Amino acid sequence: MQTLRLTADPDGIARAAALLAQGNLVAFPTETVYGLGADATNGIAVAGIFAAKGRPDFNPLIVHVATRAAARTLAQWSDAADRLVTACWPGPLTLVLPMAKGSALSPLVTAGLPTVAIRMPRHPTALALLRAVGRPIAAPSANPSGRISPTAARHVLAGLSGRIAAVLDDGPCAVGVESTIVGLADRPRLLRPGGLPADALEQALGETLAPTTVDSSAIDISAPGQLASHYAPVAPVRLDALSAGPGESHLGFGAVPGDLSLSTSGDLHEAAANLFDHLHRLDALAKPIAVAPIPDTGLGHAINDRLRRAAAPRP
Ligand code: TXA
Ligand code: MG
Repeated sequence: MQTLRLTADPDGIARAAALLAQGNLVAFPTETVYGLGADATNGIAVAGIFAAKGRPDFNPLIVHVATRAAARTLAQWSDAADRLVTACWPGPLTLVLPMAKGSALSPLVTAGLPTVAIRMPRHPTALALLRAVGRPIAAPSANPSGRISPTAARHVLAGLSGRIAAVLDDGPCAVGVESTIVGLADRPRLLRPGGLPADALEQALGETLAPTTVDSSAIDISAPGQLASHYAPVAPVRLDALSAGPGESHLGFGAVPGDLSLSTSGDLHEAAANLFDHLHRLDALAKPIAVAPIPDTGLGHAINDRLRRAAAPRP
């Protein structure tokens, strides 16, 4: 299959929407990373996502919607959910909620779990596409399973060209790390740090988020974004490196220059936006990657989470 590269103008968005409605896979930009979309009510289309990514089928997908009203039809809503989406939607926040009874979603989307992950992105092209399709769209990050997430159309094509119908190209993603995932099935839990720092969410909720251990054997949900080795480049990764060792490339931050810097001024937003692109670039050099220390505050939590997974022993 020849993968189309569509421009994110009204024509391109209409073509992408028509392809999705016909059950095809289309990658599209969000403010976090590019997603690989399929009609979440079409089981064959959703199965195509797992095949294209080579994704283990126990790993559930995030459902993307254009409106809060659409989200409410898919899940059992709560006051906590209301408080969070009032403050944070559209934006880089995914909620995991008990699924609504009689939902039209393919059971493949939730991998058989009684909960569903829902997000309303704020990227104008993503919202226009979701409105044009008029159905919930299941979309994991548009990368082969276990590899670096894509923050540009060229990253999507490098990993999935020939396996998906199209990519809707709207340039680089502004946030650069995936959405923060909060579970509301029991008490509010931080399931994955991401593009919205946890303190902003705790403020909206009026309570603290319970942490989730990386050791997912301790929890009853299966969220493979929590598997230790995820978001991994092909090259080995070494963290907290003030300088490169022999044969290594070096990813810098702030006062540590490196071969490429996440942010020379030490800005965590800029670093998040550059993270996956710079990992893709250094990975192409086929050398081990040393990474400068990143402060563990604000967006630094999400950046360090992704870096730890990139550096974790591979299965
Ligand atoms: O920013 C993002 O969230 C991007 C863009 C495309 O929206 N999407 C994304 O999807 O990162 P993905 O599939 O790469 O990561 C989704 C994570 C996985 O770790 C999955 O296990 C978890 O969400 N997840 C999905 N449904 C869940 C559920 N019902 N309960 C717990 N975790 C769930
Ligand atoms: Mg992913």
